[in-house]
Amino acid sequence: MVVLGIETSCDETSAAVVSGSADAVEQRSLVILSQDVHRIFGGVVPEIASRAHVSAIVSVVQQALREAAITLGDVDVIAVTNAPGLVGALLVGVSYAKGLAFGAGKKVLGVHHMEGHLFAQSLEFADAVPPFTALLVSGGHTLLVDVPAWGDYRVLGATRDDAAGEAFDKVAKLLGLPYPGGRHIERIAKGGDPARFRFARPMLRRNQQPGDDDYYDVSFSGLKTAVLHAVRASKDIEQDAPHIARGFQDALIETLAEKVYRAAEQHDRRRVVLGGGVACNQALVSAIKSRLADSAAEVYAPSVRLATDNAAMIARAGLFHAERGERDGWGLNAFATLPLSNSDQRSATSD
Ligand code: KG4
Ligand code: ZN
Repeated sequence: MVVLGIETSCDETSAAVVSGSADAVEQRSLVILSQDVHRIFGGVVPEIASRAHVSAIVSVVQQALREAAITLGDVDVIAVTNAPGLVGALLVGVSYAKGLAFGAGKKVLGVHHMEGHLFAQSLEFADAVPPFTALLVSGGHTLLVDVPAWGDYRVLGATRDDAAGEAFDKVAKLLGLPYPGGRHIERIAKGGDPARFRFARPMLRRNQQPGDDDYYDVSFSGLKTAVLHAVRASKDIEQDAPHIARGFQDALIETLAEKVYRAAEQHDRRRVVLGGGVACNQALVSAIKSRLADSAAEVYAPSVRLATDNAAMIARAGLFHAERGERDGWGLNAFATLPLSNSDQRSATSD
């Protein structure tokens, strides 16, 4: 089966082709056009994002087909992110995918963006397949998911306020670093002293029990406020910035690593899959690896291109659903929010 994937949920216009069957799936091409314009505004401006997707989508899709050395005629299904994300941005991809599919006599299939992130690592690592524990950490989401099988997603925990990437970006802003700030925090934290600023580990207590509602959940807004106080109290912010960044990153990372460890232990998983832009953070990846060192669990961290938003993961998730005979009708719509649900709850309609 050959699947063309399209992703426009936020500020990346992306298209990709994958082909294969079951877990033997090959990435044939991946084109990602990042919208740099948002840097000027210090965050993604939805209207600008939609317009940029409109300008780019046709050439991005053509390029993905060209790099895969195929034509639209060779494609079996067009998979497109239809939730969650910026609704105007999603609509560009959904409308274009529907038009393209209708014109070429192809089927269209809507894919949940977070389900795409769960599939990303399997394109790079043959063993990054269920059963596994997944931590998805991006600018918009922080999810801890137990995945016994593809299509079976048990959300164990989530953030109660800011997403992990959002916390990185806000703290970066407080420290005067450019947007998006995650990688800048990681860079300056390397030169920071971990003992200078020690922030409380959010939602982390030794006596938490598996049934407690904060056993897996996380929260970063208190940590962000603690950083704000540290910044305000600093007499020399230029000198303190690396130490504050280090203190913040250590607190966030230790919390996430512990929650991942708990999820893997409780469900007896031997594989841990990381996804989302924050999974590019090497300190986070090493902390999770060392927390899980005794349990002999393998930790899969994708490369930057597959960790951040991309259409290859959407095509890959689409292939799984397409192989099960799922298709969407021409009424396929975009949704700003939609919980990650199990496959059997999918309301795919056939046309
Ligand atoms: O997955 P992604 O590309 O887009 C969303 O769906 O949000 O994630 C972007 C987020 C941003 O918040 C960015 O600051 C963060 O990922 N990020 C990082 C690193 N690289 C990107 N956070 C921490 N450390 C990094 N190295
Ligand atoms: Zn994402």
